Amino acid sequence: MKELVVNSLKLYYRTRRGTVRAVDEISFKLGRGETLSIVGESGCGKSSTAYALMRILPRNVKELSGSVKLDGEELLDMDEETFRKKIRWKRISMVFQGAMNALNPVMKIGYQIAEPLMVHEGMDKSEALKAAAKVLKDVLLPEDVMEKYQHQLSGGMKQRVVIAMAIIMNPDIVILDEPTSALDVIVQANLMNLLKKLKWERGLSYIFITHDLSLASELSDRLAVMYAGKMVEIGTAEDIYKDPLHPYTNLLISSVPTLRSEKTLKHIPGSPPDLVNPPQGCRFMPRCPYAKKVCNEAPTMIRMEDGRYVMCHLYG
Ligand SMILES: Nc1ncnc2c1ncn2[C@@H]1O[C@H](COP(=O)(O)OP(=O)(O)O)[C@@H](O)[C@H]1O
Ligand SMILES: [Mg+2]
Repeated sequence: MKELVVNSLKLYYRTRRGTVRAVDEISFKLGRGETLSIVGESGCGKSSTAYALMRILPRNVKELSGSVKLDGEELLDMDEETFRKKIRWKRISMVFQGAMNALNPVMKIGYQIAEPLMVHEGMDKSEALKAAAKVLKDVLLPEDVMEKYQHQLSGGMKQRVVIAMAIIMNPDIVILDEPTSALDVIVQANLMNLLKKLKWERGLSYIFITHDLSLASELSDRLAVMYAGKMVEIGTAEDIYKDPLHPYTNLLISSVPTLRSEKTLKHIPGSPPDLVNPPQGCRFMPRCPYAKKVCNEAPTMIRMEDGRYVMCHLYG
């Protein structure tokens, strides 16, 4: 894989109240071996972005449009069968939000990991189980986990199992949707180390979804800050963490506690808008301390001199 290029991606849902504009024309790139984190409060469209890339969609989708190109090949136009055979799980895979709590309670772990190889790849059972044992080793779980059931594992171990499931087909890109949010701090740190190791060994690219900006900046090359269905700032993790440009990014950073800083935490006032009827102009305007008249018009994405992208009338 060379790169994934996403352009004006939209995912709208149909509801009784009207159209939910969950992902509203976002654009970003992901290179080989790169980690991009998508960061933002709950309800801003992070999981929907992941579902759009995997083309795993609920029945009430109203519109999926834009462009998703993997090494130049358009994935949104591809028919479902080709996408299933060539792309989903094989080139782009995903660890779903809460997946560790969705393991099958009556099937041994080894068999669960091996199953797609038998069902979709036509591998025989012993061969598939061998592959499962190998990938369990890669995620640093002991061999006897093969024979266990999910209730016999800790949260951290279950999370490793779902990561094993996501990488068994040797994908280029793994989307991780809030993989650490249910884990305590130590287990979370171990998992982050495992992700780094796997990335290094396999040349993986990650799309890491989280609401925790400091966690994101630890693993990522670049960050994309998402607000109300839009990406409002994209840049290197270092640039964004040191010097956030968008007022929302700024508030996100100052709302995260750090070990060393003395500063008091800021609460972000208000809540993200209803995506059926988002504000007409800048979607952050109702909560923005710098809002001015021009913010009634929707800002466009501007490229800054340092290569960063920001969608805000304070710039440009
Ligand atoms: N199937 C669906 N039908 C209607 N609305 C949905 C559906 N799935 C998600 N949404 C709405 O889309 C918005 C974005 O949700 P989501 O992508 O889950 O955000 P995040 O992962 O950032 O919390 C939310 O307002 C959510 O309620
Ligand atoms: Mg989510």
